[in-house]
Amino acid sequence: MANLCLITVICLLGTIINSAYSARVVCYWDGRSFWREGVAKITVEEIKPALTYCTHLIYGFAAIDDDDYNLEPIDKKLDLDKDKGHSQYKQVTALKRAFPGLTVLLSVGGYADTDDPEKYLTLLESKDHQTKFINSVKTYLTKHEFDGIDLAWQFPQVKEKKERSTIGSIWHKIKKTFGSEVDEKAAEHKDQFITLLRDLKAVLRTDGRFISLGVLPHVNSSLYYDVKAITPYLDMINLWTVDFRTPKRTPQQADYSAPLYYIYDRNPQQNVDANVRWWIDQGADAHKVIVGIPTYGHKWKMTLDSAISGVPPITADGPGPAGPHTKSEGLVAYYETCPLIVSPTNVKAASDMLRRVTDPSKRLGTYAYRLPDKKKGEEEGVWVSFEEPETAAYKAQYAKSKGLGGVAVIELSLDDPRGMCDGTKYPIVKSAKVNL
Ligand SMILES: *[C@@H]1O[C@H](CO)[C@@H](O)[C@H](O)[C@H]1NC(C)=O
Repeated sequence: MANLCLITVICLLGTIINSAYSARVVCYWDGRSFWREGVAKITVEEIKPALTYCTHLIYGFAAIDDDDYNLEPIDKKLDLDKDKGHSQYKQVTALKRAFPGLTVLLSVGGYADTDDPEKYLTLLESKDHQTKFINSVKTYLTKHEFDGIDLAWQFPQVKEKKERSTIGSIWHKIKKTFGSEVDEKAAEHKDQFITLLRDLKAVLRTDGRFISLGVLPHVNSSLYYDVKAITPYLDMINLWTVDFRTPKRTPQQADYSAPLYYIYDRNPQQNVDANVRWWIDQGADAHKVIVGIPTYGHKWKMTLDSAISGVPPITADGPGPAGPHTKSEGLVAYYETCPLIVSPTNVKAASDMLRRVTDPSKRLGTYAYRLPDKKKGEEEGVWVSFEEPETAAYKAQYAKSKGLGGVAVIELSLDDPRGMCDGTKYPIVKSAKVNL
């Protein structure tokens, strides 16, 4: 009896503390990790250990049908498969029974919807298309019991600015006159997006469903988001403060991928803090702004010309080789990086071990590298910018100190779902959670 009493008191206390500061841990999960093989295969079952930390699970990704502008699953077999009764949509929303506090959203876009990216603009341009989309969102959410929608809207991406030689700059001027990369109707799209959110809110309000915005990397926010106008319709704004520098965008230059602070002369927006400040300055409610934290790293090839110190930015030669499990060039899951880090307890002395370099200033992040072994006649090394529990902690502390709404972890399957690094499952999600 006494024990029960004590437990009740502790629980009550916990509830009071939680309601005083209800920071959100938003967890994005790309359900297509179901199709990977071996340890990389992550299903609803493997997601469960993360859900003791996550307050919101955002399941990705849905697409938009480019004919009728309805929301549609990106992978019908996986998401709806009625024949075998394995609908991942159903399985994901059923998690709410085991985790009663969990809010489960469906995300549309997220750069996963690769067919005809123009449709994210043409949808906005017609009232009729907007209505079709809104109605299909309502239908999908209701049918599959999602608590809301995350609009990770695929607005056009800004191209990486290049260092230009004289010849290059002439070419640039020619391209500019053709206006090929410019959205001439950006101002209209910005207004139309307000309408979309307003009408979507009106339709979803009746059954209390949630709307979040996923602000994708490389979208010029000032072109497309009228922050004051859209914030009232949004429950949260997930800033995907990831992928500022990737081997695809800057193949010749390896650099910190998702620094907290960092002033690039040419790209002052390419860090977490600059993005957060922009949204707050534009009038977003701080408690709705969520800081994105990647779980993966970006890997470049080092060359014989790369500086031997490893200090970024360094000369590189495109994406590094794919990770052994996720098999995607230039990208590595945290659990693929951690076993390669040289440490006193990790003395495998394998030839592919990486030297980890942390950043005591807590502003830039961690990287790890291996120089080409000249004695063996190697011409290539690797350089990885990656997130780890320590850097995720800094970002969570940052969100807390600024009174923001919390953090968004992108994405679960590339953390360490099986505890392969040190036995802890989801060490990055956990670190973010305990530091909020
Ligand atoms: C974003 O758009 C604004 C205009 O609204 C422009 O001044 C700015 O240079 C753009 N930023 C980038 C990185 O293209």
